Amino acid sequence: MSIDTVHVPLGDRAYDVRIGQGLLAAAGAEIAPQLYRPHVAIVTEENVAEVQMAALKAGLDAADVTYSILTLPPGESTKSWEHLTTVVEWLLAEKIERRDVVLAFGGGVIGDLVGFAAAILRRGIRYIQVPTSLLAQVDSSVGGKTAINSSHGKNLIGAFHQPALVLADVDVLETMSRRDLLAGYGEVVKYGLLGDAMFFNWLEANSRDLIEGDVALRQYAVRHSVQMKADIVVRDETEQGDRALLNLGHTFCHALEAATGYSDRLLHGEGVAIGCALAFETSARAGFCSQEDPSRVRALLKETGMKTDLADIPGDLPDAATLIELMGQDKKVIDGTLRFIMAHGIGAAFVTSDVPIDVVQSVLTDALDARS
Ligand code: GLY
Repeated sequence: MSIDTVHVPLGDRAYDVRIGQGLLAAAGAEIAPQLYRPHVAIVTEENVAEVQMAALKAGLDAADVTYSILTLPPGESTKSWEHLTTVVEWLLAEKIERRDVVLAFGGGVIGDLVGFAAAILRRGIRYIQVPTSLLAQVDSSVGGKTAINSSHGKNLIGAFHQPALVLADVDVLETMSRRDLLAGYGEVVKYGLLGDAMFFNWLEANSRDLIEGDVALRQYAVRHSVQMKADIVVRDETEQGDRALLNLGHTFCHALEAATGYSDRLLHGEGVAIGCALAFETSARAGFCSQEDPSRVRALLKETGMKTDLADIPGDLPDAATLIELMGQDKKVIDGTLRFIMAHGIGAAFVTSDVPIDVVQSVLTDALDARS
């Protein structure tokens, strides 16, 4: 199967996202045009290193690109000041210069952390995203959002810093756990819901085969998602307007992630899927979309085996008022007012501050009641 290219035309920050099979094996040839000297620094995490590093090394060896490797612990807690310091100091110790390139080899955690390190090292060096999870391939590796977490919330410390290239090898999805794959799929469904009803129809027809491993369907879904994201990022790189649409489901998701302590109880993509279902329920009750739309959203999530309802989150959750309080740290808050991504229908999301909080309260209360 051939390699797809999605170009992200951002002037002097433009780059390509390459999507297809065998891209790790071809990494050296893909990356070489970006290099002033044939050497890269790779930052990864333990699980990715164990399963994928041999393929990346072979790809770099084949093009005589040398490398040094820093391997961090896996998990969200790696997106911290402590590990940011580790990465930056390591890159300096490795004498990585301003014209050099750092490879972020991993999922969203590594991509966000390494992107931020690249943004601040020597006032900005280039980095290449080599995303190894579905979530990272369709969302976090594209668009230049980089960040670490704070005790006040996720992704609150960061910078916009676009990668120089993204290499999304769809073969690596084969090694993902079913749970992680389905979590990443939450972000894929999000694209259909926010801006492309035809893509949502396509997902309804193809999700089962795609999840079961059809590589051509996977490549199409990644390419289509990346193209949608690229179009939005080009319109609004620093999220002054339209880019907030990419946060469909995320206001609810961030509150649920905070309520579950950013733990294994709820993966980010699972929270996005549940958040999308809640956003559509809220849209219907606020009169923005028809009553049928939330049922259709929930049907696709359920049929695919994804987390859909608050009842799918194990353990206790706080009450609706507390969840609304937790939404207050959302980056979309302006002058203390929450902004929501609502929908006029499937594929027709919009940003608004005009959502009665008692509607949100009733949606959450009913969803919490359904757990018992
Ligand atoms: N993940 C949302 C964005 O990149 O804007």
